[in-house]
Amino acid sequence: MDHDELILKTVLYVKDCLKDAEAGHDWWHIMRVLANARIIAAEESGDQLTIELAALLHDIADRKFHHGDEELGPRLAGDFLRSLQLPVSIIQAVIQIIQQMSFGSGDRGMAVKTIELQIVQDADRLDAMGAIGIARAFHYGGYKNRAIYDPAILPDPEQTKEAYKKSSAPTINHFYEKLLLLKDLFNTSTGKRLAGKRHEFMETYLQEFFSEWNTG
Ligand code: ADP
Ligand code: NI
Repeated sequence: MDHDELILKTVLYVKDCLKDAEAGHDWWHIMRVLANARIIAAEESGDQLTIELAALLHDIADRKFHHGDEELGPRLAGDFLRSLQLPVSIIQAVIQIIQQMSFGSGDRGMAVKTIELQIVQDADRLDAMGAIGIARAFHYGGYKNRAIYDPAILPDPEQTKEAYKKSSAPTINHFYEKLLLLKDLFNTSTGKRLAGKRHEFMETYLQEFFSEWNTG
């Protein structure tokens, strides 16, 4: 199978996996991450097929929607990739990226990141920032029936991974606990550059939010 055929087959598989997904993690998120990954990859090195397959398969079974199961996504991706009869080295590389990617799994102590992981992780993080990131955050908060903002509940950017997973804090807190921290976590210089504008937009948005909140 050539590159385009492999990607097309993967697109069809991922669309099917995500047909009932909520809007923050749906097919359109995957499409945006793939587009971001292609933009970053054009300026960095790395194996294009590994990058594109990992971007497409990185959220097929998010642990948040599968009872905290972090292994389901990588396992399904492995089964699918074996059905395409890809070389074992590519399958392993893609599975490893999917396992290592989530913010929840943490960067701390992670072994050396391959350039392919760095690119897909940056592409995914970009989609959590800027105008789209704001839309996704409030969508997620609504989906979980969270408050928009509550001045009595302060953000905790230092919280542990377990506390972060369990948190039911207002959505505005998520900006201070995660979204505004992302700009310093980018791996590639291209990702970092693209993140700058999205970060500034979120800061402007929050200024406006609090100015409206405080003036009524
Ligand atoms: P995680 O990195 O914790 O797995 P994701 O990256 O899968 O989270 O999050 C997907 C989208 O949902 C992102 O846009 C993210 O900002 C949003 N999201 C995740 N957790 C929250 C939350 N507690 N409040 C608001 N939005 C959230
Ligand atoms: Ni994602």
